[in-house]
Amino acid sequence: MTQNELKQAVAQAAVEYVIEQVPEGSIIGVGTGSTANCFIDALARHRTRFRGAVASSEATHKRLAGHGFTVFDLNDVDRIPVYVDGADEIDGSLNMIKGGGGALTREKIVAAVADCFICIADGSKLVQTLGKFPLPVEVIPMARAYVARQLAALGGEPVWRQGFVTDNGNVILDVKGLHISDPKTLEAQINQITGIVTNGLFAQRPANLLLLGTENGVERRR
Ligand code: A5P
Repeated sequence: MTQNELKQAVAQAAVEYVIEQVPEGSIIGVGTGSTANCFIDALARHRTRFRGAVASSEATHKRLAGHGFTVFDLNDVDRIPVYVDGADEIDGSLNMIKGGGGALTREKIVAAVADCFICIADGSKLVQTLGKFPLPVEVIPMARAYVARQLAALGGEPVWRQGFVTDNGNVILDVKGLHISDPKTLEAQINQITGIVTNGLFAQRPANLLLLGTENGVERRR
């Protein structure tokens, strides 16, 4: 199976899970990226079953609206039973690195509200230790150089993502060279640096369920 076929398979599995578990008329949270796009496309057939969705990026908002979903502002929604999104890396405890597409902050906000985070990923995303994928960090533009020095002091090698501005008007530093043995602590430590909006570690709020696409089918891990 190609990586794209694995993404389609996990997206379909997530649609089935959501239809089974989420009450009709719910508002669901939807992530960003190529795997999340497969999920949106597969969910479109069942659009009328949902009241609508909350999007974790402008791109996802556009795709959902294109399929006819009502897209809600998060401030107008007090409960999201489920949030479905991909990951750049995920470990055995369902901690993740996210933000390869630069949507990490809004993803983290929607995930914080959601009762249940379902991560959909092809098998290549599962790792023993997080950190091979450079950790995206969203930074207020005027703090970029200062934050880069602070991240270097933590042992990372920050690289400014060129020509990229987040949906929130900020920049991204991709931090290479981190061996992340304690993701929860590092997530909190990095977020203490003044000028950082948030970092792409999702360990304080990991996934609740991983649907992992493998050659042998879609594995469920909790
Ligand atoms: C977007 O900012 C990211 O967090 C994505 O969720 C993550 O990069 C996974 O993307 P793919 O499904 O495209 O690999």
